[in-house]
Amino acid sequence: MSKAQRSVFCKVVRNENKELILVDSNGVEFLVPQLNEGGSSLYKRAVAAANNPTKYCFKVRVSGNLTEGSIEFGRVPGEKFNGAEPVGNFNKPNGGLEQYQMKSIPTPTEVVAAPLEDDFLKFIHNEAKDLKPQMLFMNELKWKYLIRNIIRGKNIMMTGPAGCGKTMAAKAAANSIEGYTMEIFNLGSTQDPRATLIGNTQFDTKKGTVFSPSPFVQAIQTPNTVIVLDEITRAHPEAHNILMSVLDAGQRYLRLDEASDSPVVKVAEGVSFIASANIGNEYTATRQLDRAIVDRFQIIEMDTLTKDEETNLLQMMYPSINISSIQSVAEITSMTRSEVKKETPQLTNALSTRTAVEIGSLLYDGFTLEDAAEITIYPLFDDAGGAQSERTYIRQFVQKFVGSTEKEDLFNVEADTLDNPF
Ligand SMILES: Nc1ncnc2c1ncn2[C@@H]1O[C@H](COP(=O)(O)OP(=O)(O)OP(=O)(O)O)[C@@H](O)[C@H]1O
Ligand SMILES: [Mg+2]
Repeated sequence: MSKAQRSVFCKVVRNENKELILVDSNGVEFLVPQLNEGGSSLYKRAVAAANNPTKYCFKVRVSGNLTEGSIEFGRVPGEKFNGAEPVGNFNKPNGGLEQYQMKSIPTPTEVVAAPLEDDFLKFIHNEAKDLKPQMLFMNELKWKYLIRNIIRGKNIMMTGPAGCGKTMAAKAAANSIEGYTMEIFNLGSTQDPRATLIGNTQFDTKKGTVFSPSPFVQAIQTPNTVIVLDEITRAHPEAHNILMSVLDAGQRYLRLDEASDSPVVKVAEGVSFIASANIGNEYTATRQLDRAIVDRFQIIEMDTLTKDEETNLLQMMYPSINISSIQSVAEITSMTRSEVKKETPQLTNALSTRTAVEIGSLLYDGFTLEDAAEITIYPLFDDAGGAQSERTYIRQFVQKFVGSTEKEDLFNVEADTLDNPF
């Protein structure tokens, strides 16, 4: 906000010394001597506004030019204050409105969050772990950190490879804290970020141009809402621009229009944002996202499941599948995960927990491991290079686990083909 503000809307209130003061949309207070000159018409208007804050607010504006002009105070309808921009750099002419700022009130960027009450501390450290759904495999400390960040109204970014539980963890955390509601916005699928995040302007023959705010605008104004920004890495760059001020701890507002004096909507108390970013755990991947966006988040890196964790998960999800099949699935997925980390890997991508769950569901529905692999695993690996291909490599690995009685016919056909002298 480099351009000097020319106008701003404030509420008029009385402080404990009964002085009339102006308060901007960030709660910052300004003690303006003229307002308190008893008997003046300005004083009378200010008293009326202080007595009836829903009906009236004040517009403070620069009259004339910025160097030699003066500041004027006008009483305007109370609703003008809704979504108004806070005082930013209203420092002209002659110190502008800023000169009246009551310095004892810290500006929002300097506000240090109050210490959490004992109840909250107990909640985070003792109770939060029990809120984690049994089906979600996630490091306990990271889960606790996630819950703490929601309560602190922080922005959280879940990172990690595809299908490792980022979205699942975000939803589970948002759902598990009493008194909080959750709203999900899939940024990956938005073609028109402005319509999704701000709203639409329509023309109505009777009412003229009507602005209908988006569900996102409603959500950020609802206290204690956890807003899941899913797939932020796939969002249109315009979405990142719009979110910049919303996510900034010192700003926390959404501007409803591109013009610098257009109305803004403030992010309500207790609103937190959880973004999921489909980026690898390696540093370089953050290049896919604007550094400025990444800096506005606390990062929580989701780990991929170990072989034992994945076995447990599949057992819980599909108790009727025999354990050896489940172990085979976990063996296959975990092999791919360690293979990609090798110096000269035979595979360039690893199987996700999502894929493991999908294989589990096929086994549950009576498909053989061979069939399930055919459908879910092989298409994910390149078949270029024939016998040297990634697909051949994974196929050979899977074969080790395929029961000898399974699909005998198919094997015979393959064996015949191999033996075929042509
Ligand atoms: N850590 C996990 N614990 C339990 N289940 C998991 C975990 N990770 C993945 N799954 C299973 O895989 C599915 C997909 O997970 P999820 O959608 O959360 O992945 P994601 O990390 O958000 O993936 P993407 O990057 O593709 O968005 C879940 O519905 C769940 O069944
Ligand atoms: Mg996801």
